[in-house]
Amino acid sequence: MSGTAEVVVVANRLPVDISVDSKGKMSWDRAPGGLVTALAPVMRSRHGAWVGWSGKPDLDVEPFDGDGMHLVPVTLSGEDVKDYYEGFSNGTLWPLYHDVIVDPEFHRAWWNSYDKVNRRFAKAAAEAAAEGATVWIHDYQLQLVPALLRKLRPDVTIGWFNHIPFPPVEIFSQLPWRERVLQGLLGADVIGFQRSWDSENFLRSVKRLTGDKVRGTTVHVQARPKVPTRQVKVGVYPISIDTAAFDELSRTEKVAKRSRQIRAELGNPDVLLLGVDRLDYTKGIRHRLKIMGELLRDHRVKAPEVCLVQVASPSRERVEQYKTLRDEVEVTVGRINGDYAALGRSPVHYLHQTFPVEEMAALYRAADVMLVTSLRDGMNLVAKEFIAAQVDLDGVLVLSEFTGAADDLPQALVMNPHDIEGAKRIVMQAIDMPNDEKRRRMRALRRKVAKEDVAAWADRFFADLAKVKESNND
Ligand code: F6P
Repeated sequence: MSGTAEVVVVANRLPVDISVDSKGKMSWDRAPGGLVTALAPVMRSRHGAWVGWSGKPDLDVEPFDGDGMHLVPVTLSGEDVKDYYEGFSNGTLWPLYHDVIVDPEFHRAWWNSYDKVNRRFAKAAAEAAAEGATVWIHDYQLQLVPALLRKLRPDVTIGWFNHIPFPPVEIFSQLPWRERVLQGLLGADVIGFQRSWDSENFLRSVKRLTGDKVRGTTVHVQARPKVPTRQVKVGVYPISIDTAAFDELSRTEKVAKRSRQIRAELGNPDVLLLGVDRLDYTKGIRHRLKIMGELLRDHRVKAPEVCLVQVASPSRERVEQYKTLRDEVEVTVGRINGDYAALGRSPVHYLHQTFPVEEMAALYRAADVMLVTSLRDGMNLVAKEFIAAQVDLDGVLVLSEFTGAADDLPQALVMNPHDIEGAKRIVMQAIDMPNDEKRRRMRALRRKVAKEDVAAWADRFFADLAKVKESNND
């Protein structure tokens, strides 16, 4: 069982949006996102294949060539979506890995579905990979795939990267299937995390919950019957964005014009605060609204001179906690506007919508202060996009210390979203920041994000996989 792809990416979602018309004719468009942009050149030059789900239940599509790579759709039934995706991935692992902000649910049926779907992904990857290929598996939805794939295809080199945090062992231990998950991951040759907190948490879990030895950042996976001892490298690889493309887009006259128009539509406020998130309880949107509400109450800011635009794009809408969050956010926005708006002048402009990338670039350019108040976040690429869009150097980034981005972007104003008084002070510091300080900080942030872009991130991970491959061939 082997295919022709020298590089295989395995992710929960395909990098394209597939549509099928009423006559059954299939078409596709590239889905937006930095990951595919970063990987596209290597996929094109090395006969790459991408294994993933279309995002639509019960859509059964044969593998096809598109966007310079071989696309291998994995079909998920409605039941799989409910139990593997909404259930175990987003009702169990997501809250567990994000500091149990809401209670994770543990259901055996969800676990069984996760196991079954991970096997399906592993089989598809095994069939796509050429002899001796490199396979890069992504994220928490596919933690069993590394070991399953190793069993099917011991000849391939396997990487796994976690886009979200990895929890402390005291929290991870709640998971009834914790050993199975660790064994699944340790099937990889290279395991990557966003920040050192995550890799340290993972190594502590390995030490505490498996019989394997940890030396520095290497796990020595003990020999099991018929399986030789292996070394697994654990590293930190902070993800980034396609900075040059975002910068270029933000400089266009179309985006500049739209950003002026946005400010005009808002009544040309003195200060435009901006929040951009998926509507997710990890993002601290309620904390942000509390900060805004109290600043208005305390007369430290006044509408319409200061206003907040909050984009909250719809996400995982059938998962219960997301429905509750939406209700809470919308009630709070209504209360703040009810208390502090005048006719035609709202302090909070709430948009439960998804916008094209041009509109996002215009919003970033229009904003004076970007508020990223996540309670826990693997990286937070919105922070990096905002920086890439600051071609005039005049925006200020306020960043929660509980994001991976806080490690990368020390010139942001870093805050603790749970400390409402402290956070209010930081937001006021951002609003009142002198222009030369804004420019100094933003210049340093832009240098960092320009150098450490998503292509550099992918190169580093592939380089570490190549080293493993070389040493295995020695
Ligand atoms: O951050 C993890 C992640 O899975 C991203 O890859 C993705 O963009 C986001 O969460 C939303 O995921 P989904 O809509 O596939 O559940």
